[in-house]
Formats: sequence, structure tokens, C-alpha cells
Amino acid sequence: MYEQIQEAANFLRSKTNVKPKVGIILGSGLGGLVNDIEGAQSIGYQDIPHFPASTVKGHAGKLVFGELAGVTVMAMAGRFHYYEGYSMQQLTFPVRVMKALGVELLIVSNAAGSVNADIEAGDLMFIRDHINLQADNPLRGPNDERLGVRFPDMLHAYDPALLDQASAIAQANGIRAHRGVYVALQGPNLETPAEYEFMHRIGADVVGMSTVPEVIVARHAGMRVFAVSVVSNKSYPISTIKETSHEDVLEMVGKAAENLSLVVKELLGGMRNEG
Ligand code: HPA
Repeated sequence: MYEQIQEAANFLRSKTNVKPKVGIILGSGLGGLVNDIEGAQSIGYQDIPHFPASTVKGHAGKLVFGELAGVTVMAMAGRFHYYEGYSMQQLTFPVRVMKALGVELLIVSNAAGSVNADIEAGDLMFIRDHINLQADNPLRGPNDERLGVRFPDMLHAYDPALLDQASAIAQANGIRAHRGVYVALQGPNLETPAEYEFMHRIGADVVGMSTVPEVIVARHAGMRVFAVSVVSNKSYPISTIKETSHEDVLEMVGKAAENLSLVVKELLGGMRNEG
């Protein structure tokens, strides 16, 4: 794996002169942020050595290098999900390549369902902790010490300083935002009412099908992490649940995408000023 990471990173270095400090993974319906990247250089996943092949025809996905709010970034437009059939190692490979290219901070976004009565569809939730119920782990197998330690700590998986900055940005801009716990399930089906109830009772605030594998690998690699859920549907209390299609999810996420973009750009702007 180590050699494959280096090959992918060397290939990308030959294609772009951008040296990214921040990696961004854009979730379902949240790809619009790449349009704000200045001096954008795009590289299709299919051209990158050892990148997972896309399972969805016509949605190959691409890496976009450039500057956002004055900070060098590399963004994944299109992420890989466990439910598509990738192994955890495959779907987190791009995060390891980010690290090899010098990325220090990973920003992750996703669409998620609320299991907290106070968190409404259209709200943002800054992830302060997670529960992994995907029943698999990207670090399973022999550990390569060049990539990280065998038993990475997860106490401050989500950077406390960035959480504070994000909350301040949301408040200053009148954006409804919360802090909470993300629980990751395999999907691809949404949850039954009994499962939403269970997620609520175990301490989750939102439910989704991604993010946790990438965060585990980023922390293994020693990267800082900021992650945010865009709430696409409210599924608690269970007496209020409505049927939800993927189109419903994308529509609601689209409405809140601008708020996400604003928070991310102001966070990056703050980093630039810190130097
Ligand atoms: N459950 C799981 N994943 C999701 C949901 C949900 O309710 N909404 C958007 N992604």
C-alpha cells in the first residue's frame, strides 16, 4: 500500500504545481464548493494510479487542486462509499494520498438524517464525535508504521479549535448550526423507525453512511479533522418520520450547501491569516 500511495502522489505532483495544505471531501449534493476554487486544476480519478475505479457510470469523480479563500487545497468532487462495494482500505486511499502530498487538515462533509428533536432538516451539524457502526475498519490488517501507529487515539478526533471557530462563524452569519455526534452505518437503505430510535438512544445526533472511515485514516495519519453534516431529513421523534427519497435528500442538501460553503471558506480564511 505504501508504494501505491507514493505512486499516486508522484503522479499528482507531475500534474499540478499546487502544494495543498487542506484536503476537502465533498458529500452528496455538496460538490458545488469546487466551483469556488481558484486556478482549479482537475484530475479525473480514472487517470490516477491505484485510485478506486468508480462504480457509477458517468460519475467518475475528480480531484480539484487550487486555492480557496487564499489557502491551497485539493478537493474530492465525488467520494467513495462503503455501500458501493469498496473495501475500507480502497475508499480511504485518497486520504492517504492527501497526507503524502503534505495535507495537514482534512475537511469532510456529508448529508445525514437527524435523530435529535432539536436538529432540523437544512441545519448544519459540526461533528464533535462519532460512533462507528459500519462493522469494519480501514486500519484492519497489518499496520505500516510509516502511515501511523497501530492503536491511534481518538479523544480529539475532531479538532476542538476548529469546532469553536466554526460555531462562531455560524453564529455571526445567522446560520443554524449544532455540534453533535455522527453515527455511521453501512447503508444503502435508510433506517427503520426502530433503528432511528436506537441511534437516538445510543447518543447519536445524526445518522449517515460515510465520513467515519476517512476520519479514522486521517487521524491515523496525524491530520487535523473538521467535519460537518448537512441535515437532509429529520427522523426523530419517530412519530414524525416521513418517507425520504434520495432526491429529497439532494434537494434539502442543495438548499443548505451555501451555508456549508460560507463556513468552510471563512474557516480557511482564518487559517490564512494565522499564516
Ligand atoms: N440515514 C442515513 N444516511 C442518510 C440519511 C439518513 O436518514 N439522510 C441522509 N443520509
